[in-house]
Amino acid sequence: MSDEDVQLEARLEEQEVFEPSASFAEQANLTDEGIYEEFEENWPECWEGAADLLDWEEDYDQVLDDSNPPFYEWFTDGTLNASANCLDRHLAERGDEAAIEWVGEPVEEDNITYTYEELHQKVNEFAAGLREMGVGEGDVVTMYMPMIPQLPIAMLACARIGAPHSVVFAGFSADALATRMNSADSEYLVTCDGYYRRGDPLDHLDKANEGLSGVDHEVERAIVAERLMDGDGFDHDYADNQVAFEDIIADNEGATVEPVDRDAEDMLFLMYTSGTTGKPKGVKHSTGGYLAWAAWTSQAVLDIKPEDTYFCSADIGWITGHSYIVYGPLALGTTTMMYEGTPDYPDKDRLWDIVEEYEADQLYTAPTAIRAFMKWGKEYPEQHDLSSLRLLGTVGEPINPRAWKWYYKHIGGEECPVVDTWWQTETGGMMITTLPGVKDMKPGSAGPPLPGNDVRIVDTEGEEVQPGRAGYLTVNKPWPGMLRTLYKNDERFIDEYWAEYSDTDSDDPDDWVYFPEDGAKIDEDGYITVLGRVDDVINVSGHRLGTMEIESAIVGVEGVAEAAVVGGDHDIKGEAVYAYVITEDGYEETEELRSAIIEGVEDAIGPIARPEAVIFTPELPKTRSGKIMRRLLEDIANGEELGDTSTLRNPEVVSDIATKVQGD
Ligand code: PRX
Repeated sequence: MSDEDVQLEARLEEQEVFEPSASFAEQANLTDEGIYEEFEENWPECWEGAADLLDWEEDYDQVLDDSNPPFYEWFTDGTLNASANCLDRHLAERGDEAAIEWVGEPVEEDNITYTYEELHQKVNEFAAGLREMGVGEGDVVTMYMPMIPQLPIAMLACARIGAPHSVVFAGFSADALATRMNSADSEYLVTCDGYYRRGDPLDHLDKANEGLSGVDHEVERAIVAERLMDGDGFDHDYADNQVAFEDIIADNEGATVEPVDRDAEDMLFLMYTSGTTGKPKGVKHSTGGYLAWAAWTSQAVLDIKPEDTYFCSADIGWITGHSYIVYGPLALGTTTMMYEGTPDYPDKDRLWDIVEEYEADQLYTAPTAIRAFMKWGKEYPEQHDLSSLRLLGTVGEPINPRAWKWYYKHIGGEECPVVDTWWQTETGGMMITTLPGVKDMKPGSAGPPLPGNDVRIVDTEGEEVQPGRAGYLTVNKPWPGMLRTLYKNDERFIDEYWAEYSDTDSDDPDDWVYFPEDGAKIDEDGYITVLGRVDDVINVSGHRLGTMEIESAIVGVEGVAEAAVVGGDHDIKGEAVYAYVITEDGYEETEELRSAIIEGVEDAIGPIARPEAVIFTPELPKTRSGKIMRRLLEDIANGEELGDTSTLRNPEVVSDIATKVQGD
C-alpha cells in the first residue's frame, strides 16, 4: 500500500461517525430530519403517507383500530390487491421497463428480463391456471422454490386471486417442507425440477416428492417449474396430480384475471420461522399494512426510485426476499434483480460482475456475505466498475465495525451511505436503521428507530436502562407491517411476543409491548446496537435456526440419548452450530455416529443447520433443577474463560468437556 493508502486506512479505522455524502443527501427520497418529530406528534396518522404509496380499491376508514390489543388492525375496511399494486398500476407508464432482471448461475446461459408488461401477462396466465385447478380465495399455496422467476410469478398470481402463499426456502429439507404444508393444511405446491449451485445441477423435485410423501392430507396439485436445461440428466416422471408450470402458462396464454379485492387485514402470506420450541411458527402477514410497510421502507431507507436497478442478494425463501426483492420494490415500480446462485461462482467477483453489468443503484446484502468478501480480498471488487452504486444495505445479523468500514470503502467508495437495518420476519419490514439522507451513520450500530416507531431498551422489569447498558429490545407501539398472529394459534402469538412485558388482561394498547427477543443497548444519541437473540435461536449466516429444532433432529438419530445445541462464534457465519451429544447405553462415540448425526440434521432441517462440531460427552452441565446450562456450553465452544459453575449439579463435567473441545 502507498503511504496515502495507509493513512486513509488508519483514518477510517478510527472514525466512528460517518456523514452521508452531499451527493447522496441532495437526491435522497427523504431529506427532512423534521420527519421524526412530525411522526411522533402525528401518530398513527403519520402512516397515511405509507398507505398513500398504494392504490386502494375502497378507501380505509381508520388508520389504526387498537381496540383489541394485540390484535391490531391497520387501514380498516380498506380494500386493495397486492398484485395490482405491484403490476397493473405501473403498466401505463412503465409497461416496457424491466420489472425483474433475472440472472441464472451458469454464465453461459442467457439472462432474462421481464418487463412490467411481460410479468403482468405471466402472472395473469398463472393466476388463471391456479383458479382453474380449484385454488380459491384463502387457500394456502406452498412454494418450495429457489431463485427462479417462476417464484415471484407464482407469488403475485396467488396475491391476485387472494390465495395466501407460504414460501419454503429451497435449501430446507423434505421434512421441513412436509411440516410446513401440514401446519398450513396446504393442498397446493409449486416447486421445480432443479436448479444450479456452483456449476452443478441439483435435483430439487426428488426432495419435493419426498416432502410430499410426508404430507398428512391430500395434495390436490403439485406444479413443477422446469428450470433445468434439458432436464440436465435427471429423469423425472410426474405423478397424476403433477403438472408442468410451463404447460399451465401455455394453456392459459393471453388470459386475464381480474385482481380480487382484498380487505386490508386479509392474509397476504404466511412465512414459517424458528422460535424457542421445536415447532416452526407460521407468521401471518396482512395485505394492506404489510404492503404499505414494505413500500414505505423501500422508499425511505433503500431510497428506491422507479428508474433504479435495485439488487438485493437475499433469497426470496426468507422474509428479506419477500419484502425487499418482490413486494417493496415492485410496489414502487422499480427494476428488481434476482440472482440464482452463489457469490463465488464461477469466481469470487460474481456479484461485482452483476453490479457492473446492470449498473445497479443499490446493493442490499448480509454481514455474513460481507465477511466472506473481506476474506476473499478487495482485488475482486477492484476488477469492476461499481460507480453506479448509490446506497448499500445490510440485514440479518449484527455487523462489526470492521466489516462495515470495509463495505463502505471497498464497495461504496466512501460515497454510498450504508444502512444497517434491524428487523425480523415478524416485523414485516425494517424497524431500526438510519434514514440514509438524513442521519449520520455509526458502524456497528443499526441507528435510531425509524420515524413513528417507539423502540426502547429495558431491563427484566420493563424499566428503561441507561445508555450504554445492555438490556432487552421492546417495541412499544404497533406498526402497519407487524405480524397479525401466528397461523391458527393466537395463544402462542401472545405467549411468544407479548406476555413478557404486557399486562395481558388489559384492553389498553399502552399496556401492550412487543418483545422481539433480542438484546440491545442504546447510546446517548439514541442509536441502537443490537446484540443478538436472547432466546434459544441462533443466527447462522443470517439464517435463523431454533436450537430445539436441531436438538430434536439429533435425538431422532439412533444411538443418541440427549443433545444440547448452542451457537459458537464463527468468522464468516457469525454463529455456527455446536452440538453436545450423549450417546445411548450400548452405543460407542464413533465417527459413524457423528456422520449419522450430521446427516440427521440435514435431513430434518437442511444443510444450513449442519453442525460445525459434534462433541460427545458423558454428561451435560445441569443446574440443580435439571436445566442445561447453555451459557457454559457457549463459553466452551468459544474457548472463553468459563463462568461460575458453582450452581451446577455436576461441575466436574465442564472441564472434561472443555478439554475435549480444545483437543478436537
Ligand atoms: O436477532 C435479530 C437478527 O435477526 C433476527 C431476525 O431474523 P429473521 O426473522 O430471520 O429475519 C432476518 C431478516 C430481517 C433478529 O431478531 N437481525 C436482523 N437484522 C439485524 C439483526 N441483528 C443485528 N443487526 C441487524 N441489522
